[in-house]
Amino acid sequence: MKAVTWHGKRDVRVDEVPDPVIQQPNDAIIRVTSSGLCGSDLHLYETLGPFMGEGDILGHEPMGVVEEVGPEAGDLKVGDRVVLPFQICCGHCWMCTQGLHTQCETTQVRDQGTGAALFGFSKLYGEVPGAQAEFLRVPQAQFMPIKVPEGPVDERFLFLSDVLPTAWQSVAYADIPDDGSVLILGLGPIGDMATRIALLQGKRVIAVDNVPERLARAQARGAEVVSLDEIDDIGEEVRSRTKGRGTDSVIDAVGMEASGSPVAEMGQKIFNALPKRLTAPLMNVVGVDRMSAIYSAIDAVRRGGTVSLIGVYGGASDPMPMLTMFDKQLQFRMGQANVKRWVDDIMPLLLDDSDPLGTEQFATHQVSLDQAPSAYEKFQKKEDGTIKVVFKPGQPAA
Ligand SMILES: NC(=O)c1ccc[n+]([C@@H]2O[C@H](COP(=O)([O-])OP(=O)(O)OC[C@H]3O[C@@H](n4cnc5c(N)ncnc54)[C@H](O)[C@@H]3O)[C@@H](O)[C@H]2O)c1
Ligand SMILES: [Zn+2]
Ligand SMILES: [Zn+2]
Repeated sequence: MKAVTWHGKRDVRVDEVPDPVIQQPNDAIIRVTSSGLCGSDLHLYETLGPFMGEGDILGHEPMGVVEEVGPEAGDLKVGDRVVLPFQICCGHCWMCTQGLHTQCETTQVRDQGTGAALFGFSKLYGEVPGAQAEFLRVPQAQFMPIKVPEGPVDERFLFLSDVLPTAWQSVAYADIPDDGSVLILGLGPIGDMATRIALLQGKRVIAVDNVPERLARAQARGAEVVSLDEIDDIGEEVRSRTKGRGTDSVIDAVGMEASGSPVAEMGQKIFNALPKRLTAPLMNVVGVDRMSAIYSAIDAVRRGGTVSLIGVYGGASDPMPMLTMFDKQLQFRMGQANVKRWVDDIMPLLLDDSDPLGTEQFATHQVSLDQAPSAYEKFQKKEDGTIKVVFKPGQPAA
């Protein structure tokens, strides 16, 4: 089959690889009909290279049709239309029963000290073959698949794999008071969807980015938008709009690819020049993060407010402004989204044919797998109006 594979920094290719096969009795195989490209894939493309293996299949936002089921795949049937969560989880361990599926005790990657295994996400998360491919092996198939009805186009349901529950969790964890306000940093797919959800819940949203079409989408939905290019200081700007206080909550939907921190960028360049065998162990210790978004979040949130980190961070020794965090009496929540925890909350909005979250128009680019190298590049450089790319593995090259 065809699959999008990692070959080095900013080098993804479309390779012919063996079809996946059932390996465990509770596996299933799906034929992928749509598969998202995520901001998290950009970390692998750019920063997390030391943890990747040449030829690893990328992607973790799939939906499709069940092709084959193992004898212990529960009530899953060949022909079912399903969306798969980006994390692999069993549904019956203690963590899963607490709604903490990204901490699943059956699939935790203990040799790396990380949580649940993820599709297509480096050695840190189990090196499980990813979903930007024609077929996907689904472990834990007695629990993983989210069955969705026939009828609406894939895009109505596809984002249940990641974007929707991630954005939903970011808003839930932000703990925005009734009639309260939230600052959303970053208007990629995650920040954009978080904006839509917070607005639907009646919150005041101030949203920040520097990409004009991303700002325009959030503004069209009713957010107050601020372009990074037009202000000197996010905290000052936010305080000027909130009686000098700051917003009740902040969602950091940027993570470690933040722009605006030149010193860290230099560290990153030095780091990238080191031999790979040195960098993997170093990265966990030294920290190469670009921290500008989280620093803005800490500055712009009001005293006693909540910061919800949904953008991904890695590394250990970046200095955190502990005095400010303590003195402002802040609360922090963070982590990978527990997809299955939020499906029942989100599903009614997807079954509503008025499509209140605008899922059907959410993707800006639908492309064949063959176009992956250019799609990754355009998404990273934010060229050609690229906000959300969806691969259509069944489609021939354009
Ligand atoms: N926690 C989870 O479960 C989960 C799931 C999916 C994605 N993510 C993470 O969420 C983050 C966003 O993902 P995405 O798909 O929206 O990616 P993206 O890269 O498209 O979006 C990031 C946006 O942040 C903007 N930005 C950069 N620096 C900024 C700054 N200093 N201030 C404000 N905005 C800034 C960029 O212009 C871009 O629009 C990534 O870190 C991704 O890994 C987390
Ligand atoms: Zn993702
Ligand atoms: Zn579990």
